[in-house]
Amino acid sequence: MHKKVFCNWKTYLGVGETQTLAAEIVEYAGSAKGIVLLPSAELLASVAHVIEGTSVEMGAQTSSVHRHGAYTGQLDPENLHTLGCQYVLVGHSEQRAAAPMPASHFIAQATTALEVGLIPVICIGETRQQRDAGDAAAVVREQLRGLEDIADPDEFFIAYEPVWAIGTGEAATVEDVTQMCEYVKSIMGERTAILYGGSVTAETVGAFATQPLISGFLIGGASTKTTTLFPILDVLRSS
Ligand code: PGA
Repeated sequence: MHKKVFCNWKTYLGVGETQTLAAEIVEYAGSAKGIVLLPSAELLASVAHVIEGTSVEMGAQTSSVHRHGAYTGQLDPENLHTLGCQYVLVGHSEQRAAAPMPASHFIAQATTALEVGLIPVICIGETRQQRDAGDAAAVVREQLRGLEDIADPDEFFIAYEPVWAIGTGEAATVEDVTQMCEYVKSIMGERTAILYGGSVTAETVGAFATQPLISGFLIGGASTKTTTLFPILDVLRSS
């Protein structure tokens, strides 16, 4: 599989379901690399156990800006790394909506993640209203501000996820996504790896998969069941 697939399980799954799904994915993947599981934080340790010694990787859905200290309720990035996380999502739109923060907060979060050895997956994307107003590029520019100063383009992933495409069944067009990839690369550098996320399914993934500008996918709902995830992986294996 040439494209990376990040499975964002959000808080969709229970304990048993998470372990079973992780084990089924390990079996499906065999020795194939490129699948990253993002379980909810309280289940990271049990998923780490299931994927240990396999080709499947793991990441966290967020992490604290801080390392060890008096930060009740936060996720210590150093511990996440020790637990087996290679990646961490930064600024997923559901998080940005729940607790609005300036771009500098997410840059600080990515900086700490990089310091402890985690690869940040920085989530960006505009709302429907912003796109309709012609502001999509400006919004993305603002979300990326400062990132070019903290890391080289091959040290992180950008996940372009238009807010209106997340969980709605309405994926962005390939044209819109490739245009945004070109824009992001023009700011961050050609080597920047960009994922697309937003209502990715077996039906929509094929058209994106043929685009060299798209390095992979961040998949929510469809990644939480083998019946919807495996057909996507089948498409990616054959493309
Ligand atoms: P979705 O979610 O695939 O369910 O649209 C994507 C995401 O939130 O990362």
